[in-house]
Amino acid sequence: MGKAEIIDGRQLAAELTRKVRDEIASARKFHRLTPGLAVVLVGENEASKVYVRNKVQQCEAVGIKSFAHHLPADIRNDDLLTLIRGLNGDDRVNGILVQLPLPAQIDPAAVLATIDPDKDVDGFHVVNAGRLATGAPGALVPCTPYGCLLLIKSKQTALAGLKATIVGRSNIVGKPMAQLLLNENCTVTIAHSKTADLAAECRAADVLVAAVGKPRLVSGDWIKPGATVIDVGINRVPVPGGTTRLVGDVDFNSASAVAGAITPVPGGVGPMTVACLMRNTLIAACRQRHLEEPEL
Ligand code: GUN
Repeated sequence: MGKAEIIDGRQLAAELTRKVRDEIASARKFHRLTPGLAVVLVGENEASKVYVRNKVQQCEAVGIKSFAHHLPADIRNDDLLTLIRGLNGDDRVNGILVQLPLPAQIDPAAVLATIDPDKDVDGFHVVNAGRLATGAPGALVPCTPYGCLLLIKSKQTALAGLKATIVGRSNIVGKPMAQLLLNENCTVTIAHSKTADLAAECRAADVLVAAVGKPRLVSGDWIKPGATVIDVGINRVPVPGGTTRLVGDVDFNSASAVAGAITPVPGGVGPMTVACLMRNTLIAACRQRHLEEPEL
């Protein structure tokens, strides 16, 4: 087995969740603030239902009031936008999350554009992407890449000057991850399916983030010895015996023999995403109430 340190996402997420819960308790006590999060689920996607249930449970655990909206799969685009506009105007709701993916008749860009950027706790609105990219104040940062940054920082305190490679260029993970690592003064490469020599780009990285959704794509011989490896992939693959299991985008067994530190799947990035959503909801609520925002 490998020699890499395992980065324990469950533990780090539990620590962040505890801090968020404590900050919310004092906001309630001193400012009569109970943050509210609206969670909108459209249709019956089973994975989405699990994620949404988890988010609502975490709200409960930290003292955020959740407003769950489960809408039929055939809802009209306009009706969904009308719901969002209502949530934008509802003072009890500090954060709005519309679970993705959405059914085919819904225009996801229109949905994200309709959410008030200051309530956009997923950080997907173009205004928040622009704030993050330019350093303008008030950005709400997407939860998964922010969670990845906290995981990286738990092992690598001096990031300036390091080479970081991100495999994957999605708006949800790859691009905001690149912005966050650039803000930490890393030299950042975004690699993707058309990259000429993907293995070489990965091998150059002191910090490697894999977020492509390809099971075990990144093997140990793609990894620089001692690198910090963050695996965002959650892929369900068949195993002998007719069952399935979850694996990441990184081949854990070979990678952990080479890396300096590595996140497991499950138990790495996943738990951090929800903890960061709770953090973003608290931050959004503090900003809306013009309260000093906690450092989390
Ligand atoms: N679907 C997959 N990841 C996410 C996420 O971070 N937020 C939302 N809203 N939907 C998702």
